[in-house]
Amino acid sequence: MKVTISHIKADIGSLPGHSIVDEKVMARIQEYIEDHGKNLISDFRMAHVGDDAQITMVHTKGIDSSEIHELAWNAFKAGTEVAKKLGLYGAGQDLLKDSFSGNLKGMGPGVAEMEINERPSEPFIVYMMDKTEPGAFNLPIYKMFADPFNTPGLVIDEAMHSGFRFEVWDVIEHKAIFLDAPEYLYDLLALIGSKERYVIKRVYTKKENKKLPEENVAVISTDKLSLIAGKYVGKDDPAAVVRIQSGLPAAGESLEAFAFPYLVSGWMRGSFNGPLMPVGMKDAKMTRFDGPPRVVALGYVLKSGKLEGPVDMFDDPAFDYARRVAGEMTDHLRRMGPFEPHRLPDQEMEYTTLPVVMEKLKDRFVDIEKETLAK
Ligand code: 13P
Ligand code: 13P
Ligand code: MG
Ligand code: MG
Ligand code: MG
Ligand code: MG
Repeated sequence: MKVTISHIKADIGSLPGHSIVDEKVMARIQEYIEDHGKNLISDFRMAHVGDDAQITMVHTKGIDSSEIHELAWNAFKAGTEVAKKLGLYGAGQDLLKDSFSGNLKGMGPGVAEMEINERPSEPFIVYMMDKTEPGAFNLPIYKMFADPFNTPGLVIDEAMHSGFRFEVWDVIEHKAIFLDAPEYLYDLLALIGSKERYVIKRVYTKKENKKLPEENVAVISTDKLSLIAGKYVGKDDPAAVVRIQSGLPAAGESLEAFAFPYLVSGWMRGSFNGPLMPVGMKDAKMTRFDGPPRVVALGYVLKSGKLEGPVDMFDDPAFDYARRVAGEMTDHLRRMGPFEPHRLPDQEMEYTTLPVVMEKLKDRFVDIEKETLAK
């Protein structure tokens, strides 16, 4: 049976700043989808991380379905009305266009969706991040599907021994490249290390996969808000759907990729590098310096279009150590204040509020040769 998992998310306002979504807004989104989604979707779940509201839907309309996208858009619109009434900060923040026009591409909300042949047991994990960007998924997705030190299944499970195919997007030039791992591992790394530009969009099994040949097995939202709005309107906090087990990374191999809190860009004002901290839903709110950037993981199984779960995968002492390391890194980096490499390099600051300040200083620069005070 072919089904589509569509995960769609947007920041439509939060309290008290960019910390956490309001339950009343979540309830309105949920109610809207219950009322209007009956004939469109077979099941759905709501979640959040920080100020980003998230909807995971299951249906049979395929990816890029205008009906599904419109349902999500209208649900976020309905939620925004509540956010405005409550005076939430940044009400409607990620809804960058006035009206829906057939597809959510370029409209603000993040979309991660894949059409799959549902397996007899179809386990998957939805990862959701706040205060960072789509490229924050590059390292963990690489580890899950290409690094045998993270995923020993690549070595010891014959079903997945052939490796995986990566679809990488150049989000500036709007181009895509397909690279097989392990054959093109170094080329893949040459690109995805530049995580503000080259982002992993999808992962597929190869035809040699013994259990699940030529299937889409992971997808990441890659929408760039600054490229849509032309100015800083918050970060493109991403989400990913990752299928697991049986010829794919096991649940624990997928989660293992987040045990090391590596540096991602985003955090305060979308302008700083900070450690990615894996947290349970009880800690899915942003506090210190509007962060640190966080990732939550909700595990499901899918059967005949119906969802079982979620299980809050990072709500576990096994990730306490990663959280402690993230806390130590936070302390270390914060002492650098507005200095690089805590603050992002100039090139990436173009998409923040700094250029407005620079513009004001522009005319005060003088020629060093002619006009310094020493002369
Ligand atoms: P499968 O049961 O999905 O083949 O994977 C084995 C496993 O779960 C090891 O952790
Ligand atoms: P969000 O993208 O999560 O709204 O972040 C905005 C911000 O600038 C936080 O400091
Ligand atoms: Mg926000
Ligand atoms: Mg956010
Ligand atoms: Mg954002
Ligand atoms: Mg098993």
